[in-house]
Amino acid sequence: MIINKPPMGWNSWNTFAWSINDQLIRETADVMVSSGLRDAGYEYVVIDDCYALRDRGPDGRIVPDPDKFPHGMKSLADYIHSKGLKFGMYSCAGIMTCAQYPSSFDKEFLDAQTFADWGVDYLKYDFCNFPKTADPRMAYARMSMALKATGRDIVFSACNWGEFEVEKWIRSTGAHLYRSTGDIGERFSAVIDIFQSQDKKIRYSAPGCYNDMDMLIVGMDGIGNVGHPGLCGDTEYKTHFALWCLNGQPLMMGSDLRRLRPEMLSLLTNKDLLRIDQDEECRPPIVTGPPWCNRPCYFKHLSDRQFVLAFFNLEDEEGSSDFRPWDIGFPTTAGFGMSLREVFTGEVKGPINDYISVDLAPHDCSVFIGEWVAM
Ligand code: GAL
Repeated sequence: MIINKPPMGWNSWNTFAWSINDQLIRETADVMVSSGLRDAGYEYVVIDDCYALRDRGPDGRIVPDPDKFPHGMKSLADYIHSKGLKFGMYSCAGIMTCAQYPSSFDKEFLDAQTFADWGVDYLKYDFCNFPKTADPRMAYARMSMALKATGRDIVFSACNWGEFEVEKWIRSTGAHLYRSTGDIGERFSAVIDIFQSQDKKIRYSAPGCYNDMDMLIVGMDGIGNVGHPGLCGDTEYKTHFALWCLNGQPLMMGSDLRRLRPEMLSLLTNKDLLRIDQDEECRPPIVTGPPWCNRPCYFKHLSDRQFVLAFFNLEDEEGSSDFRPWDIGFPTTAGFGMSLREVFTGEVKGPINDYISVDLAPHDCSVFIGEWVAM
């Protein structure tokens, strides 16, 4: 199995945490189909922590909580598969999950087989309650091997929050993606902190094994486990989504999809942003301008000779973000210019071979897909 695009889907944690059940997961799968999200590329339905009983069964296996999942996990997996979607689950490298449920430390091969028997296609693997004396690399390598040993194609999503310079060794464990930050919260400052913290790490992300800046908060509207009412509006969601796509991130939606507003659906299915996110070359963006700038402009190569030019205003006041061609080594006398199309408005610019300045509202962004043309 080759994972050559960052995975896309939905995860229960950001909104629902403990309040998960069979009906919620089935309804979410239904909405992913009826809303067009599945057809836009969102394929994984992932149940996070809190689905199990506190104790393992007599055979040592993890037992789904029968009050929450009365039909068991295999039946739920079958339903999700019947919708043309894939099924994701959660465990942890420690001795208990973060919410104190059974976890896979030293039980990797048994648990991997249980997940395979349930029809799981994706495993998020957390890091809480990990023994101080144990080796994290070994733990992730062991679960990776255990998943492969089942013979089932299971995407392995490591989640050790970026500790122990995970970006430098996780690829060798066989994982397909790795959380590189702590948990997101529904605050613009959290979005920016996470994005900026990856500045020197994003270069390690590449097909086969992707950097993961955590699930999306797009459209949470203040509701749920990591929700903060009033701290993010449509502009903040827009910039959050654009930053994640710029960095070629796994796109795991975290809101209640059953009440997603049309504006948020249209943001999450923006074809140009998804094309940027899923670009098969997965090249890191280059920031232009001084590193301390809070109105940065990013340049990123895409496949097919295209590129991204993205302007951000991370400040609380309006202002302009500027592109200086010399920052990326583009000679203005080359006889070529940039032909640009804005991905939210369709506005066309150029060809242009000079300084570009874009006025932006607080927290807003403007993203262009470009091509080189003779001029
Ligand atoms: C955290 C993880 C979150 C969520 C939570 C569940 O460690 O970063 O994404 O999975 O555990 O308890």
